[in-house]
Amino acid sequence: MNKTFTKSSYSEKRKVKEMKLVISIGGSVLASDLDPNKIRDYAKSIEQVAKDHTVYVIVGGGKTARNYIKTARELGGNHVVCDFIGIDMTRVNARLLICALGSCAYPEPVTSYTEAGKAALNGQVVVMGGLIPGQTTDAVSAVLAEFVEADLLINATSVDGVYTADPNTDTDAKKIDTMTPDELVDIVMKIDMVAGSNSPLDPLAAKIIQRSGIKTIVVDGRNPNNIIEALAGKHSGTLIYS
Ligand code: UTP
Repeated sequence: MNKTFTKSSYSEKRKVKEMKLVISIGGSVLASDLDPNKIRDYAKSIEQVAKDHTVYVIVGGGKTARNYIKTARELGGNHVVCDFIGIDMTRVNARLLICALGSCAYPEPVTSYTEAGKAALNGQVVVMGGLIPGQTTDAVSAVLAEFVEADLLINATSVDGVYTADPNTDTDAKKIDTMTPDELVDIVMKIDMVAGSNSPLDPLAAKIIQRSGIKTIVVDGRNPNNIIEALAGKHSGTLIYS
């Protein structure tokens, strides 16, 4: 017998998700030591958040990507070739997270923004790595947040927030609790001018956050529970909002 779903019975079956979240996880915090327990802990936090929200996760390359890029450079690979290798490694890390998420996740790392949007339609967590040379996964997460009109972008990284300068090189650097996207761009540009210093977000990501005013929270990604805390507004990272 053919079963016809009315509009109401359909929406009863499909739980309406409250918000669209884009979560960027640095490869250095997710997979630097390839510890399955760490990746499993991340999957648990993401799964919890995904019960109520539509979740897109962008995974970075971390130490493995850097090692491969270093070897490729020594072998004569140009910048674009090295970037492609970095992108490949982000996708390998994305696959690890998909393994841990199981049926909760779309089964493949998606490779475009439009594919990400379509993959989320069935309610699964969408996981992806990098996309094109010349940027990092910070930029991918900001553009994706813009494309899917996310309510919030969470950047889970290896520092506990945005500082007034690079805390690794400047002992006077102070953590900022709340800042505007304009202030973020100023700080990122200033840090980026100093060769070898670590910027909390790449300059392209900062500019995208600025042009769209995407509400962004930078949290210490070494503890996956900080994603849940960020969502509850209880984080101790940096809120970027105008
Ligand atoms: P990441 O986004 O992981 O860079 O991309 P990262 O700054 O090293 O971040 P962590 O350590 O994971 O937190 C790794 C490399 O992959 C290439 C770049 O070479 C980048 O440095 N990549 C990544 C791209 O070229 N395009 C992308 O869209 C993403």
